[in-house]
Amino acid sequence: MQVAVVGGTGTLGLPVVRDLVARGHAVRVLSRSAPADPVPGTEHRSVDLSTGAGLDAALEGVYAVVDAAGHRGLRSAPVMVEGVRTLLAAEQRAKVSHHVEISIVGCEQVPFSYYRTKVAQERVVTQGPIPWTLLRATQFHELIDEILGASAKLRLAPRASMRFQPVDVVAVAGRLADAVEAGPSGRVRDVGGPVVQTLSDLADIRRHTLAQTLIPLPVPPIGRAVRRVRDAALCLDSAGEAVSFDYAEWLRRRYPKPVS
Ligand SMILES: NC(=O)c1ccc[n+]([C@@H]2O[C@H](COP(=O)([O-])OP(=O)(O)OC[C@H]3O[C@@H](n4cnc5c(N)ncnc54)[C@H](OP(=O)(O)O)[C@@H]3O)[C@@H](O)[C@H]2O)c1
Repeated sequence: MQVAVVGGTGTLGLPVVRDLVARGHAVRVLSRSAPADPVPGTEHRSVDLSTGAGLDAALEGVYAVVDAAGHRGLRSAPVMVEGVRTLLAAEQRAKVSHHVEISIVGCEQVPFSYYRTKVAQERVVTQGPIPWTLLRATQFHELIDEILGASAKLRLAPRASMRFQPVDVVAVAGRLADAVEAGPSGRVRDVGGPVVQTLSDLADIRRHTLAQTLIPLPVPPIGRAVRRVRDAALCLDSAGEAVSFDYAEWLRRRYPKPVS
């Protein structure tokens, strides 16, 4: 099957590309910049979701599109909301049969601006012109590590009661590849990691695994959004699927030797 992965060079997109190639699909990688180290057997097309540039040519002959593009800055909507609307319109012109979207578990419960953007993006997809599948995942280990790594650079370890259930991005990519093969299925089962942990727990695990000495930084649960995260709004409910390994295992694989 000819599949296009938008954002196929990113944290999630790259393992999606690898998984689809391993399953024998023809994969086109769509992003603004070409990958430094392309996955063998794939072709890259430059596109920009915020302007629509390159999309029509990139989607010629494509059966399914996986949207793994992301923009984490404050101005995420032009890429992730207007951008997905532009993408769906191009998919309609190219007669694409299936749009696969990734979203975030509990995004409608936590009023951070990025999560509002995800809710708006979901609405564009689910009310859009292309038959769709929508998968929600919890935070990737990479994101948790980026947050804790940035604190550790300042020699700080956050003490915070916010709860997360971080997940292996390769497992999420596998669910998206399953979705491509299953065809349009609507909202599918949420996916997350095997363990719910507070940010304090996760910071302790990182500190011990990497043998770092850090100063505890208390982060009080101020604000509605933070309190919702503390109350596990971003974690799976009983219907969700808990997969793969936890953050401690991810750290052992990512940092085989302790870093200072
Ligand atoms: N990170 C998490 O913990 C997490 C959890 C659940 C769901 N998600 C969702 O997963 C998706 C991907 O997140 P990620 O963390 O993998 O993102 P990421 O690592 O930042 O990757 C973003 C990708 O999007 C591309 N991109 C950015 N702006 C673009 C534009 N204007 N036009 C075309 N491509 C563009 C980037 O390539 P170029 O810069 O070269 O264009 C890159 O390939 C997002 O929808 C996010 O909400 C993330």
